[in-house]
Amino acid sequence: MQNHNLVKEVLISEEEINKKTKELAAEVSTFYQNNEQPVVLVGVLKGCFNFMCNFMTNLEIDCVLDFMYVESYAGKTESNFQPKIKVDILTDIKDRDILIVEDIIDSGVTLKKIVEHLNKKQPKSIKIVTLLDKKIKRKVDVEASWFGFEVPDAFLVGYGLDYQEMLRNIPYVAIADVDKIKELEKNKV
Ligand code: IMP
Ligand code: MG
Repeated sequence: MQNHNLVKEVLISEEEINKKTKELAAEVSTFYQNNEQPVVLVGVLKGCFNFMCNFMTNLEIDCVLDFMYVESYAGKTESNFQPKIKVDILTDIKDRDILIVEDIIDSGVTLKKIVEHLNKKQPKSIKIVTLLDKKIKRKVDVEASWFGFEVPDAFLVGYGLDYQEMLRNIPYVAIADVDKIKELEKNKV
């Protein structure tokens, strides 16, 4: 879907995303190139979906995939929610190198919870790659090893990011029209 009336402006185009994703995949491939075992990519659903697909097809190393489903936003436009792990990975990650793949880090609360959870399974290492990083919103001490773009404190949609589970299928990252969203929400009550 190219256009939507809840999009205020394009923040990062499809071309920019593709270029940056290739660069990230090249860096990550170099980092793990001498690994004996395939790296375990752990995608955080559902937002990781678009980025993970693009990223992994550009990786030049062996990898296996697994997913977690973590609910952190509950359809709200504010991240004032405690994350809940709804679906855990199935792979035995003891002594394995883990790369968590995220769409965006905002407060960092979700990732912190995920890292703590995965650490209990005694992996060899845990690293994080995220397409977007809202550094200005960080509330807890968690940093990505690799990030694509630092983004402003705005409500973003597209390329996996949702508003009430929709708009994930926009092929670019956009700033949502918060006035229109507020209007919509007012009319619902
Ligand atoms: P955090 O726990 O505050 O870091 O939020 C992490 C999760 O919230 C991300 O993985 C996204 O799924 C979601 N999120 C954060 N910022 C946005 C946004 O601007 N638009 C849509 N979803 C977002
Ligand atoms: Mg996410």
